[in-house]
Amino acid sequence: MGFASLSDASSQGITVNKVVSTDPPYYDNIGYADLSDFFYIWLRRSLRLIYPDICATLAVPKAEELVATPYRHGGKEKAERFFLDGMTQAMSRLAEQAHPSFPTTIYYAFKQSETKSETGTASTGWETFLDAVIRAGFAISGTWPMRTELSNRMIGSGTNALASSIVLVCRPRHADARIATRREFLTALKTELPAALAHLQQGNIAPVDLAQAAIGPGMAVYTRFAKVVDAEGKMLTVREALALINQELGEVLAQQEGDFDADTRWALVWFDQNGFAEGEYGVAEQLSKAKTTSVAGLVKGGIVALRPGKVRLLRPTELDPAWDPATDNRLSIWEMVHHLIRSLESGGEAAAARVLAALGSKAEVARELAYHLYSLAERKKRAAEALSYNGLVQSWPEIVALSRDILPPPPPPSQPSFL
Ligand SMILES: C[S@@+](CC[C@H](N)C(=O)[O-])C[C@H]1O[C@@H](n2cnc3c(N)ncnc32)[C@H](O)[C@@H]1O
Repeated sequence: MGFASLSDASSQGITVNKVVSTDPPYYDNIGYADLSDFFYIWLRRSLRLIYPDICATLAVPKAEELVATPYRHGGKEKAERFFLDGMTQAMSRLAEQAHPSFPTTIYYAFKQSETKSETGTASTGWETFLDAVIRAGFAISGTWPMRTELSNRMIGSGTNALASSIVLVCRPRHADARIATRREFLTALKTELPAALAHLQQGNIAPVDLAQAAIGPGMAVYTRFAKVVDAEGKMLTVREALALINQELGEVLAQQEGDFDADTRWALVWFDQNGFAEGEYGVAEQLSKAKTTSVAGLVKGGIVALRPGKVRLLRPTELDPAWDPATDNRLSIWEMVHHLIRSLESGGEAAAARVLAALGSKAEVARELAYHLYSLAERKKRAAEALSYNGLVQSWPEIVALSRDILPPPPPPSQPSFL
């Protein structure tokens, strides 16, 4: 049997040895208390006699609310301080009372955005939040991406909400955790991040959330140590660790390029420089040599268009709807991704499922390329393209499920045997 009770997270002492799974407030994302008053004043009229304790006040409590609201705390910096101190206290209470045999799980669905404080030092919701988790004596031992929110929920549009929630799995940090050098931290990141990211991608984390989700496994490395110090003995801050994790994420994505065919690797560099716009033939030719392909081959492969002196990548809308991968003898991963987008955007998931069924197991690496292209398009601020790549990954599980109901094309007739 469950029971509900109301108390301030920073000072609660509900029970000891509990299993904790919490969805904390996200920095300054939502003013819950102010919002609650809108409903509370009406609820209070009908519930005051039933819940006299809860409805004792005229409006809901505001002062204890763990949200970094500048107007309540006398400016941005003070609000950040309040959030950090309060969250550290709340996390410490949880760490003390959590059952030692079970990890504490913390839902986190806040997209990092930079804010400048009055003294000019940049700070973020994530950084402040992670700082609090670490100060409370937790180490992060895992990151689970979870599909928890409806894509059409009201907060989803135009806000800093993530498309997927991330669950940070925390355990108390070992008392004998050692101090590591910055180099050791980087080496561990390089060893562990590739597998962790592949795991997140297999979990179909939305490309828009990948950089955010990568913080988890990166922080798992950082929090394993009592602290990380540089060559001068200065402590590596959460902010610096986050920057290194982000840099490493870029390198891991670049390494994944090794899985792609030559035409796709050419297209990636070209897309980075030109998007779908025209570029010089000479540059395309030069690049094709470096990537061991040729411009003529790329045209034959059905991914670029030529006119005298100019080359450009074909947009998904320009690709042939009658395309059949079975008869395509120069099939590239680039082509797969863009045909999947063409079919998804023109005919929905069912149409994309037909393309996927025709591609068979070869298509798995296409999702990897879509992640890659998303991060590239986002970096270049090409919003429309970023949306397409993100959309393909988000629809992926549904496309795969639908494609399972489609029969594979019959094998070509075999040669008669003369034996
Ligand atoms: C991200 S929301 C949780 C949303 C919830 N999972 C749901 O689906 O409705 C964070 C919650 O923490 C509450 N909160 C803020 N400060 C608090 C404090 N000091 N003690 C306890 N709860 C607090 C907010 O009122 C808000 O309801």
